[in-house]
Amino acid sequence: MEYKSNVRVVRVMCSGRIEPTFVLRAFTKGADGVLICGCHPGDCHYQEGNYRCLRRFLLLQKYIRQLGIETERLKLEWISASEGKQFAELVNSFTETITELGPSKIKETMKVLA
Ligand code: FES
Repeated sequence: MEYKSNVRVVRVMCSGRIEPTFVLRAFTKGADGVLICGCHPGDCHYQEGNYRCLRRFLLLQKYIRQLGIETERLKLEWISASEGKQFAELVNSFTETITELGPSKIKETMKVLA
C-alpha cells in the first residue's frame, strides 16, 4: 500500500502511549497535521490504551483550538494492522485535508508563547 511521501510515521506500542507532549512537539517541530491511529475500541492489546488515547485527544483538540490551530489538523482514527488499504486511504485523505488548510501557524504561535 502506498501513501503520500510527506508523511512521517512514528510508531508506538499502543495509542495509549501517546503523550500530549508528543503531539505538541510534532506541531512545534513543523508538522502541519497529526494523525493518531489506534486499535478499534475493545481491541487494544493493553486493555484500555485506546480509551486513554481518546480522552487525551479530546483534551488536545480543546488545547490546540485555544492556541488558534484548526482542529482539523489533529485527527484520531481507529484502524487495525490488517486494514492496510484503509490506512493508506486514511493517510491520503488526511494529507489532502492538511494540504487544503495550508501550512500550520503553530510554530509562530509557540514562539510568541515561549
Ligand atoms: S495496542 Fe492499544 S490501541 Fe492498539
